[in-house]
This record gives sequence, structure tokens and C-alpha cells, in this order.
Amino acid sequence: MSSTHNHWRSRIGNALVLALLAGLAAWLWTLQTSHWPTLAPQMDVRLAAGLSFTLWLVLCAVTLLLPRKKPAIKQQHTDDNTWHVIHASQTGFALELAERSVRLLRDAGQTAQLHDLGELTPQQLQGKRCLFIASTTGEGDPPDTVLAFAKYIDAKHQHCIDFSTTQFAVLALGDSSYTEFCAFGHRLSRWLLEHGGTPLFDLIEVDNAAPGALQRWQQQLANLAGQTDTSVWEAAQTQPWILAKRTLLNPGSQGWPAYHLVLKPFGSEKPQWQAGDIAEIHPTPQLQRDYSIASISSDGQIELLVRQMQRSDGSPGLGSSWLCEQLNLGDTVPLRIRSNPNFHAPSPSTPLILIGNGTGIAALRALTKARAQEGAKQTWLIFGERSAAHDAFFGDELEHWLENGTLTHLNRTFSRDGHVQRYVQDALRAQSQRLQEWVNNGASLYICGSQEGMAPDVETALNELLGETTVTTLRQTGRYRRDVY
Ligand SMILES: Cc1cc2nc3c(=O)[nH]c(=O)nc-3n(C[C@H](O)[C@H](O)[C@H](O)COP(=O)(O)OP(=O)(O)OC[C@H]3O[C@@H](n4cnc5c(N)ncnc54)[C@H](O)[C@@H]3O)c2cc1C
Ligand SMILES: Cc1cc2nc3c(=O)[nH]c(=O)nc-3n(C[C@H](O)[C@H](O)[C@H](O)COP(=O)(O)O)c2cc1C
Repeated sequence: MSSTHNHWRSRIGNALVLALLAGLAAWLWTLQTSHWPTLAPQMDVRLAAGLSFTLWLVLCAVTLLLPRKKPAIKQQHTDDNTWHVIHASQTGFALELAERSVRLLRDAGQTAQLHDLGELTPQQLQGKRCLFIASTTGEGDPPDTVLAFAKYIDAKHQHCIDFSTTQFAVLALGDSSYTEFCAFGHRLSRWLLEHGGTPLFDLIEVDNAAPGALQRWQQQLANLAGQTDTSVWEAAQTQPWILAKRTLLNPGSQGWPAYHLVLKPFGSEKPQWQAGDIAEIHPTPQLQRDYSIASISSDGQIELLVRQMQRSDGSPGLGSSWLCEQLNLGDTVPLRIRSNPNFHAPSPSTPLILIGNGTGIAALRALTKARAQEGAKQTWLIFGERSAAHDAFFGDELEHWLENGTLTHLNRTFSRDGHVQRYVQDALRAQSQRLQEWVNNGASLYICGSQEGMAPDVETALNELLGETTVTTLRQTGRYRRDVY
């Protein structure tokens, strides 16, 4: 309604300007006393002037009557009543909260839409009511999927960005054990403010999924939707799983012990998940730890590979010790499966290069199994650990997969065995031609394992071997994905 009104207002404005110009031209004509320059020797100058004037009038009429270009998003949406819930997520939690927020608003009779920040441009935020749920990863970094958007935030020249018609709120997810707590959420919020955005309420920080902060967000959304009476957001629903088997996979290793855990569902239910998804373990209501699922739904059981951590002060890691030591076989594990779309497998026809180290093999194993089930033909696994004698996780299975064609290539590197190729990045460099060929044939690259030590070194090698532009393009097109911790 309002955009039609604006449209006619702008047409009437144009007509007035043209009428004024026509009047001015006519007045100037009467002032013309001297001879006009001759346009063509044989043509009467007054006839030429008349023709030009007529042509100009015709052009004016055409300008007024032709259908006009679509108005800019900013004008189109200044009175947009939709809530745009926008997520920036690395491992799926922000996405899940965004989905819940959309449901809450819709249940309250509001119009709400879900968006991935990585698929938007700043212009698309103009004139909108935006609710951001943004996590921080790495060391204060934005999630991988929104790196391209984050470039807009950091760009030097941003004169054209105007959020004076944008209202926004930010739920910043983070973990206060990191120095740069909720850094990306804060960066996003500052940028919106700097460009004239109007905050609907103060930024809310969420420390390690703290329920109190999530409730405040929920309350604010309810207020925005005009509701005073809100039911408290349900805590994440866990299901009981039974610890059926626990096997130490690396006896004699120089590293911390790593256990293969098998969890069976309680009762007859057959929970479904996709390779790449995460098992959220809740040893207590206050404690929650994420583990990559190492099996697929059709296995009928959740398998994990858990490293029993020790803190720098010698005390045991809380979650991993609970799983690896304190829990007895037959005990119940409160577990919730969290979808992690960022690490779901590409289509079976897409060649896939899987790169990982340590317990990172867990998700890569699930992805390989899923690929085998889907009949995918091209899967290349590059895996690194310390020693072949003690740390060759799932070694027989990987060799078997290489023999039966589930894996097209398998490269394993062991850093303490004295070989030249110590780390996965060395294996990549040694296979640079194959890497180029696979990437040229449309391969995706999935990286899983250490945030420190492996992931940055793999990225350096990829930049070196493929070029930074290609790596950026791969990332932006979802062909370079990371699940690192
Ligand atoms: C998406 C994702 C997938 C994951 N997948 C896996 C997987 O497949 N396998 C796996 O083993 N792990 C995985 N992890 C890691 C896992 O979630 C846990 O972080 C890990 O098990 C350690 O947790 P913890 O409770 O045992 O240790 P915590 O008690 O949390 O301690 C861990 C570290 O925190 C520091 N720390 C924290 N508090 C203190 C303190 N008070 N004093 C001293 N130091 C402290 C120390 O550096 C210590 O080493 C994954 C993580 C993510 C995010
Ligand atoms: C590898 C890794 C790095 C992280 N880095 C930070 C950080 O620098 N600052 C912070 O506040 N939180 C950090 N976090 C915590 C996440 O922001 C938090 O777990 C969040 O809930 C994840 O949401 P997501 O699943 O939507 O990505 C990190 C988490 C991981 C696994």
C-alpha cells in the first residue's frame, strides 16, 4: 500500500520538474534574438530547434509513462512488519535458537522469517526488523559461513550503508573461557549502531548456552510480539542412551587416552541423524559437552571417539572424564542430537576430500559411511595422528574401505614416526597435483579436528597450493567446511 503511494508521489514529482524545465526552455526561446548556429547548411535553423524540442518532449513523456525500475529495498520495506530472524552459526546452536525464535514469534501471531546471515547483503537489512543470533568461533572470529558478510563489516569505505530505517537486536553466543567473549556478536551490533541502526533492546550475551540469558531473549521476543505472559523456553530435551561398550583405542600412546564409545538408545525408538551431526552430552544440568557422532543412523547406535582430557593444572577434564572413566557400562547418558548442517555431506556425485587429525576422525568416519551408503564414488581421506603403532584410529576399517573402493585414496601421516610427511598439511603438499585435479573436478573439502595446530596449517597449505582466491571461493560456495574444536 505504502510503496504504491511512494511510487505515485515520485512520478508526480518527476512531472513537476519536467514541466518546470519545459517552462524554462520556452522562456529562454523568447530571449533568443541573434541567429542560431546552423545545424545543417540546407536546413532552416528554426525547424531544427522545433524538432529538437519536440524530440525532448517525447523523451519526457516516455520517461513518465514507461514502467519504472523496482524501487530500492530500503524504500520498499520501511514498513515491513516481518521479523527477520538471522543466524550466524558454526556448529548449529545459533541456527537451532533462530528456528525456535521464529516458532515463538509465529505462535504469537507475528510474521517471522528465518535467514542465514551468510546469504544476505547489508542492503537487504535496510528498512527491516532484524533479530540476529550470532555465535563466535576460533579466537573471536565469525562463523565460517558468514566470512564473506564479515568483510562488509570490516570494509573501510561504507558510506552507502545506511541502517537508519533498520531496527535490530543481537543474541551473541559464546563461551567466557575464550578471551574474545562473544566477539562477533558485539562486532555485528557495533557496526549496525555505527550505521544508524536502532536497537530494540540491549545485546544479550549467552555464556555456554546459559539458560538465564536464553530466557531473557525469549522474554524480549515475547514483549516485541506484544505478549506479557510467556511460558519459559523448554530446556534442551535430552534422551537417555545406554553406554554399551567402551574401548581404549590408543594403548601406549604418547597422547591422552582416546576411547571408542558405543551408546544404545533406550527403548525401541530409532533416532535419526545425519553424518556430521553432533551429540550434545549433558552429564549434569549445568554441564554440556559436544562430541562429533562417528556412526550413522542405520548403525542403530551412536558411536563417539572421546579423548580423555587433562587440564593444565592436572585436574581431569569434566565431560571427557565423566564419559571415559566415571560412567560404567549400562549407565545412562543424557544426550541430545544437534543438527549441524554446516557439516552435512555434499551430494554423492560431488568428490569429497576429508582432512582431519586426532578425534576429528569421528565425523569423517560418519561421513565416509554415509557416502558408502549413498553409493558415492570419490572420497579421499587424509588423516594424521602421532604414531602408527598406537594411534591408528579405526585403522583396519579404513584399510578395508580403501580396498573395497569406499575410499578412493587414503593418506595417513604420523608425526612421531620419523617420516618426511609428518602432518596432514605435508600429505596435502605431497599430493598437490591430485588436490588441484579434484578441486577442478568440483571436489568439496571438509576439515575436522584440532582448531589449534591442524586447521590453520591446513588452510595455509591450501592457500599455497590452490591460491587464496580459490580457497575464498571454495569457502563462500560451501565447498570448504570446517568442524574444528
Ligand atoms: C563441535 C565439537 C565437536 C567435538 N567433537 C569431539 C570429539 O569427537 N571428540 C572429543 O574428544 N572431543 C570433541 N570435542 C571437544 C569436547 O567437546 C570437549 O571440549 C572436550 O572433551 C574437553 O571437555 P572436558 O569437559 O573434558 O574438559 P574441560 O573440563 O572443559 O577442560 C578442557 C580444557 O579447558 C581448559 N580449562 C577449563 N577449565 C579449566 C580450569 N578450571 N583449570 C584449568 N584448565 C581449565 C583446559 O585447557 C582443559 O584442557 C568437540 C567439541 C566441539 C565444539
Ligand atoms: C573451536 C571453537 C572456538 C570458539 N571460540 C570462541 C570465542 O573466541 N569466543 C567466544 O565467546 N566463544 C567461542 N566459542 C564458543 C561458541 O561461540 C559457542 O559454543 C556457541 O554456542 C556456538 O554456537 P554455534 O553452534 O551456533 O556455532 C568457540 C567454540 C568453539 C567450538
